[in-house]
Amino acid sequence: MDLIDSLVANMTLAEKIGQLNMVTAGQAITGPVGGGNLEENLRAGNIGSVLNLWGREATSALQKIALEETRLAIPLLFGLDILHGHKTIFPIPLAEAAAFDPILWELTARAAAIEAANDGLALTFAPMLDIARDPRWGRIAESPGEDTFVGAKFAEAKIRGFQGASLSAAPSIAATAKHFCGGGAAQAGRDYGPVDVSERTLHEVYLPPFRAAVDAGCAAIMAAFNSVAGVPMVAHKGFLRDYLRTELGFDGVIISDYNAIAELMQHGVAADLVEAAALALRASVDIDMVSGVYVSCLPKALARGLVELEDIDAAVRRVLRLKQKLGLFDDPYRRVSPAEFSTQATAALAADAARRSITLLANRDILPLPANSRRIAVIGPLGDAPAEMLGPWALAGSAEHCVTTLAGLRTALPQCEIVFAAGVDVDSDDGSGIAAACALSADAEVIVLCLGERADMSGEAASRATPGLPGRQRELAESALATGVPVVVILFSGRPLMITWLVERARAVVGAWFLGDMAGRAIADVLTGHFNPTARLPISWPRETGQIPIFYSSRPTGRPADAADPFTSKYLDLSVEPLFPFGHGLSFSRVELKNLRLNRTEFRAQDWIKVEVDAINTGTLATEETIFLFVHDLVSTVARPLLELKAWAKVALGPNQSKVVAFTLPAQSFHVLDKNFESVLEPGDFHIFVGLNADRKSLLKVSLRALAS
Ligand code: BGC
Repeated sequence: MDLIDSLVANMTLAEKIGQLNMVTAGQAITGPVGGGNLEENLRAGNIGSVLNLWGREATSALQKIALEETRLAIPLLFGLDILHGHKTIFPIPLAEAAAFDPILWELTARAAAIEAANDGLALTFAPMLDIARDPRWGRIAESPGEDTFVGAKFAEAKIRGFQGASLSAAPSIAATAKHFCGGGAAQAGRDYGPVDVSERTLHEVYLPPFRAAVDAGCAAIMAAFNSVAGVPMVAHKGFLRDYLRTELGFDGVIISDYNAIAELMQHGVAADLVEAAALALRASVDIDMVSGVYVSCLPKALARGLVELEDIDAAVRRVLRLKQKLGLFDDPYRRVSPAEFSTQATAALAADAARRSITLLANRDILPLPANSRRIAVIGPLGDAPAEMLGPWALAGSAEHCVTTLAGLRTALPQCEIVFAAGVDVDSDDGSGIAAACALSADAEVIVLCLGERADMSGEAASRATPGLPGRQRELAESALATGVPVVVILFSGRPLMITWLVERARAVVGAWFLGDMAGRAIADVLTGHFNPTARLPISWPRETGQIPIFYSSRPTGRPADAADPFTSKYLDLSVEPLFPFGHGLSFSRVELKNLRLNRTEFRAQDWIKVEVDAINTGTLATEETIFLFVHDLVSTVARPLLELKAWAKVALGPNQSKVVAFTLPAQSFHVLDKNFESVLEPGDFHIFVGLNADRKSLLKVSLRALAS
């Protein structure tokens, strides 16, 4: 008998259910906190895992109780949200997605895993894989953005990073792909809101990153808070049991989101908590995060005949197997050797990640700033606000490590006089400091205007109906612009903000998202030209809230927008184009693409297609360009999106250098989902588009034809 069989054979019903129970320790608060004495419950065998506790001492103390004072001595599993770093805070996922760099994505997850494992953790609730197309939804900050192909690549890289080659290695932690699924389409961008997207859209857009996560060996999946077409995800048999377990063969652990099982009553699908527990278990949710409903109600559900003991046993086995894979039965305290990490290397990685995530949105001959600048005025509430650099998920992070724009510039330009005034708070009604702040710019060569959101204005429970500049910041910006001193805006946000007016008037706008510990250093590197920006938007940036949702891969209409024809798909009062398309991002150089070509014009199911394009750096600075390849299927049984991203490549180019950039596409890149959502190649004509962003007018195009096999 193996370890798991013998444990299950020995366990009482209560001990089994205990393994399915995850409680919060309250070192961090990430949701409503219930009562109960944690240590007593642990001794009684009622707890299998704990969230929101970290640190060697604290985790070891509880682990000791589990090992020495419970009947079966099953080790505890400690989990925490590590979305963009543990102790060292990296850029938020939306920012890091802008780096379009799977190696970087993996490296930051690896560094976070090492720090977390060293802090006693074995599980993280990351990566977050919700495709997000609505900037009102605060959780867009945690997401890889609007594109499903990017989401799938992000999933693979993050899981490799967190889990390493083997889960049992001390510096590996188990990843949880979340939130399964569809939450990015919450009604009107309101967090926790219901979702009602078509099954096709789920299969084409929202599920592929999770499929990629499963294929990459992800240890756990979190069932989301939201309902889809009326069925809350923690009770969604169709998606959890039939799709994840049966179709994808996922045999890892499914965890409910925080208290989500109890919330089945508010959703209106369970009359009482016993029904709620039964619905979740039958749907295949193994771990009840925080609601305590499995412990209090599964015995009753069993007695009422709503669940089978087999379902409980299967869930217990999956939880125990995860603990076994993590090596917890052999080494419950899992010590990471100090040789595994270097604080210096992690700080350098944080700086690199921050630089690679900065998205230069606009620049009218002002950046980089001259090396001999004499006086710079840093103005705005985010110019020297260390805690706000951290972004929304930085539970173990610390503002003490954060470099602000002011500090970064002072270090980078020691000979320059750099003055600072906040002028206003991020989100208050007090405009009394505006005049004095702007007066500081009197002799300055440039105003570096640091505006945007506080870190807690994005992330969970942070939806905004009007995602523009909060408080009196617009007034501050108007006054700064009125001084006549050139204004470079550094925009901090967890989402695209509606700032069309500002982009039109400022000399430059730097999308700084939330960059983590090294924010100010990276921003200074970009402002001074020590780093030539490389990031590209992983999301279309709307002009106004009324355009939301706006994304590049929308399906065609029978009446495409035409300025000359009123009866076409458009607005009376606004362009249909985003302010910045997906993929937009400037550098201090200019790259042109020419001569798009294919190695064949026809292909069949087994073929590969080679696509080449010449990339020419017409600027005088070395640069790194990101080149996107999109496909459009001209005629299909179900109308295909106007563009679908199938590959991207990065190319480093010296001044005036040109290189051939090659892509090799499998025939699968041209597949569609048939009426049963099976992936098939339909014979017919395709266009391949290649360019620097998803603005269709700017793309190069070639045609090819799929032949019947
Ligand atoms: C969030 C999850 C998170 C969990 C635990 C929930 O409120 O939706 O993303 O993992 O709390 O902190």
